[in-house]
Amino acid sequence: MLEIVTLGREVLTQTAEPVQDIDDRIRSLAQEMLQAMRIGKGIGLAAPQVDLGLRLFVTEVDERPRIFINPEIVLTSQELADLEEGCLSIPGVYAKLKRPAAVRIQAWNERGRPFNLDAEGLEARVILHELDHLNGVLFVDRLSEPARKRVLAQYERRLRM
Ligand code: NI
Repeated sequence: MLEIVTLGREVLTQTAEPVQDIDDRIRSLAQEMLQAMRIGKGIGLAAPQVDLGLRLFVTEVDERPRIFINPEIVLTSQELADLEEGCLSIPGVYAKLKRPAAVRIQAWNERGRPFNLDAEGLEARVILHELDHLNGVLFVDRLSEPARKRVLAQYERRLRM
């Protein structure tokens, strides 16, 4: 069972490395990540969150599980959406954040085939959040300084409970 690492672990601040071979090891990792994500009641999980510096993440929005390997953003909308976000690596705290409302992403699936996906709404939000994880960026890093301090203080209080 994969363990989800939390705020303070170095792997969460590092740039992940491309996946070299989409093999059985990567396929079973992706399945285990989907499982860990569901147990955590999340809708996305990136490899650095399970202590692996690989460019791979999984999402599940509207009961559609997806696996993204070596993902790249093709384009993002100019229109922004202001949505509440949380993270399994900073459990229990949430904050509203503005990001592009829609995204086109290119990635490889678990069978080693490239695909493009146009996402909007919640799915776009999850994809942009998980992509950040591959670059060592957490959603709290994108908040204004006062909002970041407030959310991190909430998280600290929660840890002591
Ligand atoms: Ni996250």
